[in-house]
Amino acid sequence: MPSKTLEGIKSIENFPLEDKRLFLRLDLNVPLNEAGEITDDTRVQAALPTIRYAIDKGAKIVLASHLGRPKGPQDRDKYSLEPVAKYLTGLLGKEIILVEESRSHAPKALLAGLKPSQIIMLENLRFDPGEEKNDRDFAQWIAEFTDIYINDAFGASHRAHASIVALPELMEKRGLGFLMRKEIEMLDRVRLNPEHPFITVLGGAKVSDKIEVIEVLMDRVDSLIIGGAMAYTFLASQNIAVGKSLVEKDRIRFAGELIDRAKARGKRLLLPIDHRITKDIKDTASLKVTDTAAIPDGWMGVDIGPKTEAAYAAELKRGKTIFWNGPMGVFETPEFAQGTFAVARAITETSAITVVGGGDSASAAQASGLADKFSHISTGGGASLEFLQGDKLPGVEAVRAPKRSEAVVEE
Ligand code: 3PG
Repeated sequence: MPSKTLEGIKSIENFPLEDKRLFLRLDLNVPLNEAGEITDDTRVQAALPTIRYAIDKGAKIVLASHLGRPKGPQDRDKYSLEPVAKYLTGLLGKEIILVEESRSHAPKALLAGLKPSQIIMLENLRFDPGEEKNDRDFAQWIAEFTDIYINDAFGASHRAHASIVALPELMEKRGLGFLMRKEIEMLDRVRLNPEHPFITVLGGAKVSDKIEVIEVLMDRVDSLIIGGAMAYTFLASQNIAVGKSLVEKDRIRFAGELIDRAKARGKRLLLPIDHRITKDIKDTASLKVTDTAAIPDGWMGVDIGPKTEAAYAAELKRGKTIFWNGPMGVFETPEFAQGTFAVARAITETSAITVVGGGDSASAAQASGLADKFSHISTGGGASLEFLQGDKLPGVEAVRAPKRSEAVVEE
């Protein structure tokens, strides 16, 4: 079923691209190590179908993205897109020309004589103060060397920034790339018409990060499975001992009410029935498994236990649609990753539509080695949660809305 959200929005395929100057807003915000190497290239890989399509169609391409949260060009050493440009050169076999100076004449001049073997890339958009301010002058600089605007930066589309909102508002020809369309289609399947039973697995550290999405999903799910540190707040609300595990005291009441609401509405809400615990988060040597849901004094939960893994796997088998957001434990430490990987395995062993929200859960899905077994892993952290909880994404609405010049009298 075509996604409702995409109605009235053009796709890159709707435009003849040959010799056209195409601005591709991507989310190439990838993690880099100390040596400046990309440690997870998921977002780069996810951007490839749109870039390759544009190359095949003979467009003159300008790639653009943000990277991290720099304070300005003074943070160039840490936040330059140069490593990403190099990486893309390897993947695409094209020369990528990185334009370092914002608001310069370089892109226009380079585009005039661009060879088919070359692609232009703008340096980190956030080096220009105009990007995060949604500044129209900054957007105008880009509009002057752009014939067609395509947003394929799902992970950044919840940000009302210049390359996401002000720029498409200035453009006559604008639309979405393949990644954006796929993200929206898959997340719409989960949020608008999930096939039942619909099971959501929520984990991660904080209940407070997920309140809105829990509220929305509560109405739609058949089962809610809870793990990660947020489970300790739920257990605390039932007066179950949690030792020195991470608990959000100011959310205990919310957690308790949620359990009551689930019961009243006949929804199944599953909490851990055993745990892997240690004396300290850095102490892997003291790791042991509890018999019950209670955690003794002086110990902290770092992962769900084996009985919980089995119970969650049995529940997940019923699912026709499964959404997973948040790891079950401190999976970055291999000794504490078993529960998260067991849940990843259980999800991928079902015949359900399986969608992973971005951020930590996407990293966990990658680390489990099962990434290619999920129906979809979102490249958006904040963006996927905001979209799922029903918020309109500025980046999607900006390519749908009437052109700014038609809606507002020019100043
Ligand atoms: C992300 O990593 O979630 C996106 O690239 C957005 O980055 P931001 O949270 O710094 O805006």
